[in-house]
Amino acid sequence: MMYSVSPKIQSATTPLYLAPQQESSRELYFAMLEERGGITGQIDELARSTSRSFLREQLSVAAEIDADFPPEMRSLPEVLRNAHDQTAQAYRHYLDGRHAGSPRRYFSCRSHAMYFLRAVAPTKLVDGSWLYGLLQYWQDSRLAPLIHTYLEELGCGNPLQNHVLLYKQLLARYGCDNWQDGPDEHFTQGAVQLALAHHAHEFLPELIGFNLGYEQLPLHLLITAYELNELDIDPYYFALHVTIDNASSGHARKALQSVLDGMPRIGNARDYHRRVGNGYRLNLVGMGTPQAIASFDLEQELLRVFADKALIGAKLHSDYCLIAGRSVSDWLSSPGEIADLLRTLQSAGWIRRGESPERSRFWRLLTDEQAPMFGVFDGYEQQLIRDWILDDAGTKPTARTTNRFHRRQTAGHVEEAAAVPQSGIKIEQIIAHHADEAPRRSSCSDVDILFQQLAGVDTKAKAFAVLAGMLSPANHPTPPGLAATRLYADLFSR
Ligand SMILES: [Fe+2]
Repeated sequence: MMYSVSPKIQSATTPLYLAPQQESSRELYFAMLEERGGITGQIDELARSTSRSFLREQLSVAAEIDADFPPEMRSLPEVLRNAHDQTAQAYRHYLDGRHAGSPRRYFSCRSHAMYFLRAVAPTKLVDGSWLYGLLQYWQDSRLAPLIHTYLEELGCGNPLQNHVLLYKQLLARYGCDNWQDGPDEHFTQGAVQLALAHHAHEFLPELIGFNLGYEQLPLHLLITAYELNELDIDPYYFALHVTIDNASSGHARKALQSVLDGMPRIGNARDYHRRVGNGYRLNLVGMGTPQAIASFDLEQELLRVFADKALIGAKLHSDYCLIAGRSVSDWLSSPGEIADLLRTLQSAGWIRRGESPERSRFWRLLTDEQAPMFGVFDGYEQQLIRDWILDDAGTKPTARTTNRFHRRQTAGHVEEAAAVPQSGIKIEQIIAHHADEAPRRSSCSDVDILFQQLAGVDTKAKAFAVLAGMLSPANHPTPPGLAATRLYADLFSR
């Protein structure tokens, strides 16, 4: 069966592409982030073989998707340019509609947007990971632009620019960091990206094609950034990707160049084209942004959250408080009755839907200082309850024409770069400089151990052999990983 869909124009009704009998994406995802080798960045043998067969399964799913990858490689630049123009036009159309008073297209309310942030967290928290395996090819100039892309995903070791850390901070800021127990389909894309990271040698054309698809500017990225901002959620992470992936000089340009540069001169060009195209389509397996947004149902999500809390809270309430003659513990011991409990709370006047949440006694029990349930619900869950109480009053878009979130200051990054010694200096001196500059926590000696392992290293090749593992998806967002990335980026640019 062939599906027809373009990565740029996929809609909320786009079907979910999943392999029929795949491994658990979630288990595999976490297994690939649990590196046994520490500094080596290696995953264990079982995770290695499982991820290999998982990747093969996903590629066979991808092969059935009819994306906009052209049959002739020479028409690829034009096809991508046209797709980019279509995206720009579609966004213009969206903005015109919004300015004329149309409602938000994606997020019905603030908790809907926060639900989305959690749903795509497994993918965003391994951002750029598919490029990790290319570090072994640092001497191949054709792949150097993609290694640069990877280093930029890692913020070149600057925590303020590391995409994974930026997303972590975003989740924490809005109380959305409880994403680990989401359904399996939330983890498929992240698992694909991690599998590519650890099988770059075997799946190099697919990896290059995947990168090309990933770095194209999708309409959903533009709309997501716009609507997050409207809902008072910092859109910086998404806005950053609009600029960094740009087609004229950004990651998208590098991605296209790497596809063209990788064309075999003597080998089988048709096979290369097929495999690159297959990797391009691999972007569409699992749950993407449109499906993640469309899967939100406020009522169902609310019931899920209350059922989760009931498992923990059933035995923690006293018997003094009765609702419709039954103790809270009694209500919570039957998770199937949560909907009845919420209806009873409304008819008893504890919840007044359609009014300001502050007028509901139940809301005040959650949020007032020293309230008995203060801290039980995280930021996302509170927003969900708030939006549900507000009912349709909470779904009206708020007009906002200016971005209230300021761009991050990059001064720290510039200062760091300026402090790096100029080229012409010996490798040992560059390493010593980074060892002096790396920030340490007194409780963490990993950074010291990293530089001890670099003692006596006097060539780029030896330095990269030590450093590469610390740039792995699991290691790079840590203090020694950031220190290793700064040194790696410094040496790579010389
Ligand atoms: Fe990124």
